This record gives sequence, C-alpha cells and structure tokens, in this order.
Amino acid sequence: MTLYEEGDVSTSPVNEGLNRRLSSELSEMRSQGVLKQLQHICGPQGPVVDLEGYGETINLCSNNYLGLCDVPEVVAAVRDGADRYGAGTSSVRFICGTFDVHRELEDRIADFLETEASITFTSCWNANEGLFAPLLDEKDALISDELNHASIIDGIRLCKANRHIYRHMDMDSLEEALESSQSARHRMVITDGVFSMEGEIAPLPEIRELCDRYDAIMAVDDSHATGVLGDTGRGTPEHFGMHGEVDIITSTLGKALGGMAGGFIASSREVVEYLVQRSRTQLFTNAIPPHSAAGALAAIEHLESHPEMVTRLRENAEYFRAGLKELGYQPIEGDTPIIPVIIGETADAIALSTRLLDEGVFVIGFGFPVVPHGTARIRSQISAAHTREHLDRALEALDRSGRELGLL
Ligand SMILES: Cc1ncc(COP(=O)(O)O)c(C=O)c1O
Repeated sequence: MTLYEEGDVSTSPVNEGLNRRLSSELSEMRSQGVLKQLQHICGPQGPVVDLEGYGETINLCSNNYLGLCDVPEVVAAVRDGADRYGAGTSSVRFICGTFDVHRELEDRIADFLETEASITFTSCWNANEGLFAPLLDEKDALISDELNHASIIDGIRLCKANRHIYRHMDMDSLEEALESSQSARHRMVITDGVFSMEGEIAPLPEIRELCDRYDAIMAVDDSHATGVLGDTGRGTPEHFGMHGEVDIITSTLGKALGGMAGGFIASSREVVEYLVQRSRTQLFTNAIPPHSAAGALAAIEHLESHPEMVTRLRENAEYFRAGLKELGYQPIEGDTPIIPVIIGETADAIALSTRLLDEGVFVIGFGFPVVPHGTARIRSQISAAHTREHLDRALEALDRSGRELGLL
C-alpha cells in the first residue's frame, strides 16, 4: 500500500466528504511531524533486519526479546503445523474451530505459569477485550492503573462494572479506590506487569497485599514480561517470587514467545471455563491458526530447555544500559530490556532516530502525544539474540549521532 502523500486526490469510491476530512487531518498530522511512516522489513524479524531503503540494520525496536522469531525449531514447528493442519480453522472455536494443538498449547501455558488452566485468543488485545465484561457487571468494580495498555482500556470500556482509575503505580491511590468500592460484589485490580513506555515493573507484592486486605481479585497483563522476567522467563510473578499468587494473568504469544499472533488468559479452571462460555472475543472470532499454535508451543518448549536465553537477555540489557550511560545518555533506570532515553523535544527524538537509521540502527523515537510534552524519547529494546558486536555498533552510532545533533 502506498500511503497518503501531500496533495493526493483520491479516486476511490469512498464518500468524498469523508475522504476530504481525513485528507485534511492527515495533512495536519504531517505538518505537526506526527504522521507515522511504516518501515518495511524484507526478511525475518531478528536482531538485524533487512529494512527496505536502508539494507542491513541493527534492530533495537522489536519485542523479539528472546530471538525466537527465527529460531529453526520454532519455524519448523510452524511449517509442520501447516503441513498437518492446513492454513487455518475456518470456524469459531465452539463450532468446529478448536484443534488438538490448541488444547496442547493451553495446557502447556498453564503448566509454564503454574496456573490451573489457560485459554488462547487471536491476540492479547482480544484476550484483554474479552476478559472483563463476562466476569463483572454493574454490581462490581474494576480498578485500573492510569497507564495501562490501550487493550485493557478498551476491555474496560466494554464492561459494565464501576470504573476506578488509580494514579500510575501509586499504592495510596489504589488503596483509595479499594476503600471507596467496598460495597461492590467483586473488585478486580488490573495492571500491566511491565509498562512498555518506561520499562517499569508494576509493584506486584504491594498490589497483592492490598488485594488481600480488601478481598480483591488481582489481574496482570504480562505481555512485556512473559519470557523476559524471572530466572526462567515466567514473568513478573517469577521476578517477585510470587508464583501462583496472581489470580488472572493475560499475556501475548506475539512478543518473546516466537512473535506469532496470539494471546492468552491463565487462571483458575472456573475463570477459564466461564470465558469459554461467555467471552465475546472467544465466541465470535476464529482461534489462532493451528500452525501458529504449534509454533508458540515450540517457542515455550525452546524457552523451557534454554533458560540461559533469559540470562543472556538480562546481561545484554545491562551491558547496553551501562554503555549508554558511559556515552553520557541518561536512560531511565530499570531492570527490563526496555531502555528509554529521554531526549526532551519531540523533534530532537525524531531527528536522532532518523539519523540512526542512516547509520544502520533502527530505534523508534516517541514524542507527544504518545508521551508527555518535554519527555520525548528514543526507546531501545534489547534481545538475547543481539551479539555484543551488534550492541557495540549501535552504541557507536548513538555516540556519533548524539554528538552531531548536539544531544551529548
Ligand atoms: C501490555 C500489552 N498488552 C497487550 C498487548 C497486545 O498484544 P497483542 O499484540 O498480542 O495483541 C500489547 C502489545 O503491544 C501490550 O504491550
């Protein structure tokens, strides 16, 4: 698809008034420098990608935390899955779209996270969208961190429970919400396990303590932590030594676990069975294609037999963070492979990421409105598949580019 260019006149049959309005808003976005430009990758996702127009580029912006996207065993499992099951399900699950490999994957996810059961969805977006409305209604309260992922926000919008938003990772604010919702039948607290813009880890022990005190259900979206945190990649519960203490875990199969499509909810048998019966993103849309399920299964197996990947990921992230500091950058402190560096002005962050692309390093710059004014940043995401040579080359480019742009 060729994106809209300034001055384009559409020949499509779509309503002229709509096209005119969209065209004018797109022009406005362009003039404010916030029009997103899609970059095209011409080969597998990896620590180095073949980026159209730039060639071989060190990739510091994928969620391929363990490098499993192009590990031969995972790719072979997808291929074998396609040979065995064909291209797709052609049905929603409760009619004739559930395959044995879905059950195998769900059992494996539950074993991996030490929950009683799990259920998969075509994405974690769909898992979050399908989670709240079936379980909670106007008699209940849903309590959410103000910086939770967009899919959680949309899931909450679809649910009739009374909404409470607490200040980001602020336990006093969470307690106020719990106190003010004491009359609810159920209260559910939902938080991202790792917040992707800052790389912060949610304070699960404190949240658990408050949930116990106020008899609330604790739900965590661990999309940026599954495969990443804890000694064996079992996420924020493992990071805090809290296995089995999170009531509901949602996460993705589209990041560390092979990067295909898919998400899941892991919880008690009752929660999972109820979602099978009532979750709209379960009932009215197809399951993940069986070959993707086979690939995700292989990715989990690979992770379980190679926990050293998680150690390498942590060491790579520490190495890169220390390297940035040596250059004079000020990365946000943290323990995750998400390493944002505050640059300040949006134009500077975008200029740096553009300059880095010319240097063969792919890093995304974020500015307002994605992050608050004055805190524009570039965000590096490190992978276990990066070699020290990749990281050193990226640091050298950051050094040169930062100096040229007067940022260092
Ligand atoms: C915290 C969080 N939850 C959910 C999602 C959605 O995951 P998926 O790509 O599986 O829909 C993302 C993806 O960006 C995420 O960061």
